Amino acid sequence: MNAFSLQDMDERLLPWHRPHWSGGDIDSNSSRPRSTIGKGIRPSALRRYIKMAVLLVVFFFISLAVSAAISPRSNSTSNNGTQSEDTPPATVFPPTHGTDFLIHDPSIILVGKTFYSYSVGPHIAINQAPSLDGPWTELGTVLDADSMISKGDRTAPWAPNTLQIGTTFYCYYSVSNAGSRDSAIGVATSDKPGPGGWTDHGPILQSGTGNGSDVYPLNESNTIDPSVLFDTDGSAYLSFGSFWSGIWQVRLEQDLVSIDEDPAVFDAQHLAANTESRRGQPIEGGFISYHTPYYYLWYSWGTCCEFKDPASRTSGKEYRIRVGRSNSARGPFVDRQGKDMVDGGGDTVYGSNADTFAPGGQGVLTDAESDVLYYHYLNTSISYEFGQARLGYNRLDYVDGWPLAV
Ligand SMILES: *[C@@H]1O[C@H](CO)[C@@H](O)[C@H](O)[C@H]1NC(C)=O
Ligand SMILES: *[C@@H]1O[C@H](CO)[C@@H](O)[C@H](O)[C@H]1NC(C)=O
Ligand SMILES: *[C@@H]1O[C@H](CO)[C@@H](O)[C@H](O)[C@H]1NC(C)=O
Ligand SMILES: *[C@@H]1O[C@H](CO)[C@@H](O)[C@H](O)[C@H]1NC(C)=O
Repeated sequence: MNAFSLQDMDERLLPWHRPHWSGGDIDSNSSRPRSTIGKGIRPSALRRYIKMAVLLVVFFFISLAVSAAISPRSNSTSNNGTQSEDTPPATVFPPTHGTDFLIHDPSIILVGKTFYSYSVGPHIAINQAPSLDGPWTELGTVLDADSMISKGDRTAPWAPNTLQIGTTFYCYYSVSNAGSRDSAIGVATSDKPGPGGWTDHGPILQSGTGNGSDVYPLNESNTIDPSVLFDTDGSAYLSFGSFWSGIWQVRLEQDLVSIDEDPAVFDAQHLAANTESRRGQPIEGGFISYHTPYYYLWYSWGTCCEFKDPASRTSGKEYRIRVGRSNSARGPFVDRQGKDMVDGGGDTVYGSNADTFAPGGQGVLTDAESDVLYYHYLNTSISYEFGQARLGYNRLDYVDGWPLAV
């Protein structure tokens, strides 16, 4: 295997051990009624059970047929840009360009003709490839040692976001622990994209504990999943957050490695949230891209990783990639219906199809040809095990200013 092997790591260290998909809150055994069928059952009762079972099966198939007949079909919904909230339009997406590159929450940049990926792993893994299709080779790590930030999983920071500004490379990363809001976003910089030259600058933003963590909105958000947008006027904005109160954005200082202590200067904006209308599914992995004349806020909606239970594979709650757009880097971002992403808006651009399952953790890059939406996904022909998530991508077309995976 060329990529770093997720199985080598302590699973508990990895970010998909987060509370909302652990499913550990519900004790299915205790909520299940105790079975009374068993010893000493009378034949008449048995016949009754069999009759009931047959009726139930018939009823099940009838309701299946009815729901298939009345559910909105994918073509019409996708053409209109409206999609059912809970049913992924399973057949409307083009196939992914899949790879065997095992990765989670990729961040990919293009430097000259070489692609570099940054991803979760001890000290943040760096891989390199001549094309998105690979072959991907592991080069080393961003950090030479544990993160300077003395909290969370400082050995294997989560969900890095790397970008090049001028001749400097910035790798924003987060440290946290499963189920905890005691998190921080830090940054390391280097003058080259590969390993061996990075300086860790420590924390920019903290939630739970640490400097500034008592200040709104850090007192009710989670400082993970960083994504930085460097705007055309030279301003830079750091988006972050997940689960707790959704996705936020603050203004970065000119040095790109700090924010001003004054809340009026960092000027937090609420960009997206999960709402009841989205059935309270988590949204995470915010990423902002720009394609003239709009800014696009992407996020992953749903359950990222825990699919051991076969019922969770068909519940329609698995990860999918949603987008909204804005005239400003600071929002508000709205979907095609004009619904603000803070109110639960967002159009699905890519979701499960064929043997591609639960795509998310996305980013957008631009190569010589077009914009490219890249993400991790599970290949259902191979495994639902999250350590088997791999890199996939689709090129983007823009129709009336709305991105379309092709
Ligand atoms: C598209 O959706 C809008 C509302 O979201 C609806 O008013 C319109 O009739 C739909 N158009 C078609 C062609 O289905
Ligand atoms: C999934 O894996 C199968 C078997 O290796 C392969 O044929 C198929 O192309 C893969 N699909 C994707 C989307 O990776
Ligand atoms: C908090 O900020 C102060 C002053 O900026 C600094 O001296 C101190 O080291 C910081 N503490 C932590 C835990 O980051
Ligand atoms: C966070 O701070 C704001 C402003 O001070 C306050 O209104 C809010 O109640 C705080 N939230 C929590 C969860 O303490």
